[in-house]
Amino acid sequence: MTIAPEIVLGVTGSIGAYKAGDLVRQLRDAGYAVTCVLTQRAAQFIAPLTLQALSERKVYTDMFDLQSHQIIHTTLADHARLVLVAPATANIIGKFANGLADDLLSCVLLATRAKLLFAPAMNVHMWQQPTVQRNVTTLKRLGVRFVGPDVGKLACGYEAIGHLAETEEIIRAVKQLVPIVGAPAPSAAPGPTRPKTKARPKPASRKARKKR
Ligand SMILES: Cc1cc2nc3c(=O)[nH]c(=O)nc-3n(C[C@H](O)[C@H](O)[C@H](O)COP(=O)(O)O)c2cc1C
Repeated sequence: MTIAPEIVLGVTGSIGAYKAGDLVRQLRDAGYAVTCVLTQRAAQFIAPLTLQALSERKVYTDMFDLQSHQIIHTTLADHARLVLVAPATANIIGKFANGLADDLLSCVLLATRAKLLFAPAMNVHMWQQPTVQRNVTTLKRLGVRFVGPDVGKLACGYEAIGHLAETEEIIRAVKQLVPIVGAPAPSAAPGPTRPKTKARPKPASRKARKKR
């Protein structure tokens, strides 16, 4: 049995944030432990409670949490094997490419030595904007991996590049960066485990029943 590798999933303020729940579920099913960090804008698109329930872990949205006895951003940064930002806005790409740290997620990104994977999602013209492309190139040169964006139907109505990569594509990229070695742990998170539902046996065919 292996210990589930720790992933920090950063979710930012894109329509694509609604897919974060499925991403958490599939990451956990693949054998990873997931802690979600939402930007303030991301919390407008997906409820932190949804991600808390699916990850079975506290969801972090605020760096200045008086309830926490630890320094949140450095603790998360130090424990992560991978920081995955999905969806990644033009804003978080720009902030990280320029070393800015004005919220929890941008601080985790600067403080970590973990591998980094960004899955951008945005309007086609935002994506093609030379300043955004320059920031992406900067991050790629520094070793940050990117998955997507794909061509697809965008929320703004265009059929164009800017669509968040499919969840399966993101999971494949995660597995390449942090492979799961051995059998996954039964539960990737502390706390209550999800009950495993047993597959019901198929009812015997009429022919088989006659033979009995
Ligand atoms: C309805 C709506 C959808 C948006 N979708 C995106 C998006 O897909 N990608 C993006 O880069 N920005 C998008 N934005 C703009 C971001 O939310 C905005 O830049 C915000 O400041 C990002 O903050 P964050 O990176 O801290 O989450 C959208 C805004 C709105 C109102």
